[in-house]
Amino acid sequence: KKINLAIVGASGMVGRTFLEVLSEKELPIDNLYLFASKRSAGQSVTFKDKEYVIEELTESSFDRNIDIALFSAGGGTSLKFAPIAASKGCIVIDNSSAWRMDPEVPLVVPEVNPEDIFKHKGIIANPNCSTIQAMVAIKPLHDKYKVKRIVYSTYQAVSGAGMEGWSDLEEGIKGSEPKKFPHPIYNNCLPHIDVFLDNGYTKEEMKMVNETRKILHDNELKITATAVRVPVFNSHSEAINLEFEKDFELDDLKQTLKDSKGVVIQDDVSKNEYPIATKASGYDEVFIGRIRRDESVDSGVNLWVVADNIRKGAASNTVQIAEVIIDSMQ
Ligand code: A2P
Repeated sequence: KKINLAIVGASGMVGRTFLEVLSEKELPIDNLYLFASKRSAGQSVTFKDKEYVIEELTESSFDRNIDIALFSAGGGTSLKFAPIAASKGCIVIDNSSAWRMDPEVPLVVPEVNPEDIFKHKGIIANPNCSTIQAMVAIKPLHDKYKVKRIVYSTYQAVSGAGMEGWSDLEEGIKGSEPKKFPHPIYNNCLPHIDVFLDNGYTKEEMKMVNETRKILHDNELKITATAVRVPVFNSHSEAINLEFEKDFELDDLKQTLKDSKGVVIQDDVSKNEYPIATKASGYDEVFIGRIRRDESVDSGVNLWVVADNIRKGAASNTVQIAEVIIDSMQ
């Protein structure tokens, strides 16, 4: 069956990457519809040698038998338009944070919890970029050694803050004042991603805590996070500290990660080999290195985990979910 596919937020950082990722695949797409705000309506975009014109997103945009819509146009747009699309029989895969914690909405990383996809009632959520790459690394270890506590420390690229975030670093290098971030991101690390909450954490940090629990189906899991924006254009790096219930042999743990879906191990310190942002960009895999025992606890490990936050952290993960749905329609 050929499907009608829509992209909402087609002019944005993630929206463009949806098109790039889709162009690398052979999906049975019949009609492709591109939506953004009025600002970009009329712009033309080339996809697989064909020209498409971006349309303004309106309440009647989904009156056209659209099977699947990939949304990445901010939380407000998703809150308003995802239910409209779903009510017309379209399956929405939403990249914003708007629906992630809704109990009716599956939150999915295809390597981790693909079985949750088909519990949807019209909307499926794509997790936060930092959560996705962490889940790909943690799930196989959780299955084998049962994670008891997680400490996340992130080093996140400016592309995660969209075009404006990217521009703050690019222009900041040339001496301009920041527009997106509250301080210059050039030459600084800002421990501030998304808004501050009453508990002193940022919303980004709490997304990592809550989304990890939802994806692993364990609401008791102990998790804490510090999320930091760093002057890197693309690909998020994370230091992940895990404490397990069961004992492990370091070689077995490394082998378990090596055998896991979507993972590439880069861990030969004798050759200065470990994952780095510039080498992860452009790929869909999650790169893991610096795998070493946490000697301060009975059973624990430290990992360095890097992935392209716009591809695996957003566009590619969303497209992978769409592929599972498209396969099931064949
Ligand atoms: P536009 O470019 O027309 O403003 P990014 O996160 O990279 O800045 O991208 C945000 C995306 O979301 C863009 O494609 C943007 O379109 C789109 N967008 C923002 N607000 C709306 C809206 N109210 N309706 C539809 N698309 C929107």
